[in-house]
Amino acid sequence: MKAYAHVVGWGKYVPRRVLTNADLSQMVDTSDEWIRTRTGIRERRLAEEGETTSRMAIQAARQALEVAGLKPAQIDLIVVATVTSDYPLPAAACLVQDALGATGAVAFDLSAGCSGFVYGLAVAAHLLSAGVYRTALVIGAETLSRFTDWADRNTCVLFGDGAGAAILQAGENEGGVLATALGADGSGWDLLHVPAGGSRTPASHRTVAAGLHFIQMKGREVFRFAVRIIPVATREVLEQAGLSLDDLDLLVTHQANQRIIEAAARSLNVPPEGVYSNLERYGNTSAASIPIALSEAAEEGHIKPGDLVVCVGFGAGLTWAAAAIRWTRPQPAPAPRWRRFLRRLYYILAVLRSWLRRLRRRLASLWTRDILGDGREEGE
Ligand code: COA
Repeated sequence: MKAYAHVVGWGKYVPRRVLTNADLSQMVDTSDEWIRTRTGIRERRLAEEGETTSRMAIQAARQALEVAGLKPAQIDLIVVATVTSDYPLPAAACLVQDALGATGAVAFDLSAGCSGFVYGLAVAAHLLSAGVYRTALVIGAETLSRFTDWADRNTCVLFGDGAGAAILQAGENEGGVLATALGADGSGWDLLHVPAGGSRTPASHRTVAAGLHFIQMKGREVFRFAVRIIPVATREVLEQAGLSLDDLDLLVTHQANQRIIEAAARSLNVPPEGVYSNLERYGNTSAASIPIALSEAAEEGHIKPGDLVVCVGFGAGLTWAAAAIRWTRPQPAPAPRWRRFLRRLYYILAVLRSWLRRLRRRLASLWTRDILGDGREEGE
């Protein structure tokens, strides 16, 4: 029997530090008026020092687990969609797995720009439907502020940091992720990219001095692509699900620019109340924007059980991705204090477990050094 991938948990985390348009106008030649009218953004959140992609992802995941009423040990799969992982390697997903104490989960990162979360949702939903796994945690998390040139007014006004998470669980009742439609057009790779720091141009004094580790973007071309692709992807995913725009209750697009969101909605004949937007508070948080929006929309009562939600992402690659989701869970009441206490205890134990495992590895390496010698040939 086919299993359905239901969305059973959702959560978000945004840093406390707020950067307003007025703050930005002190940093570069811009104004609150320009940013608001051209993008719809009023403020964005920036990670504090030490606040990383995985740390934000962990907070969002904990909230999603709380909503789902699940234990970390029940997670089989963790996908972190990000282009700003803590390290080039390992994957942020492994750091999340460790901190949650999700000892039974496989974990990997997924890089598909701002479409990453919906790509991740598609991968997880298919693995659940195929019976490979039962419970998946999909996270979109980004620390774009660390890759933003704060002297470049073309890009620095757009981006923000944050994380959002969703938990999918296999079930027999119809609902959950009904269809997904993904796409890529690599001929547009240079429209939104970070020139250095990869294997083509490794990081060096020269690349850093030239600012090649910052995001570069051809804004107008990305704008045109986004306005064209949102309606295409939305129609395609609805068709695949055997549904139409009349069935749609809420459209949750990637939050990049209010003008993009409105133009796409107009082209689909979706009324303003049928499109969710929280862009003005967070800016463009790349792969985190859709799960943050989904989570807020559910918390605020914009999504109820029975609703049909379509999520559409687009971005670097170029990539695009849509998912049609039949929502099946209400927003639960906050957990009682004792349960929150138990959860905190579980996370403390996860840190302890991680520490003990590292200690065991260290001791084991002392033991193997005894057996193998110090690596030098005899007579050296
Ligand atoms: N403040 C003031 N002026 C600015 C500015 C800023 N922050 N950024 C650019 N400008 C100037 C430009 O220099 C240009 O001046 P010029 O005409 O003297 O050359 C003018 O504003 C218009 O620039 P333009 O690029 O045509 O503006 P736009 O209306 O296309 O808006 C974006 C620019 C970036 C807001 C818009 O193209 C956009 O949102 N694109 C999509 C970006 C995106 O979503 N990226 C992520 C995708 S995942």
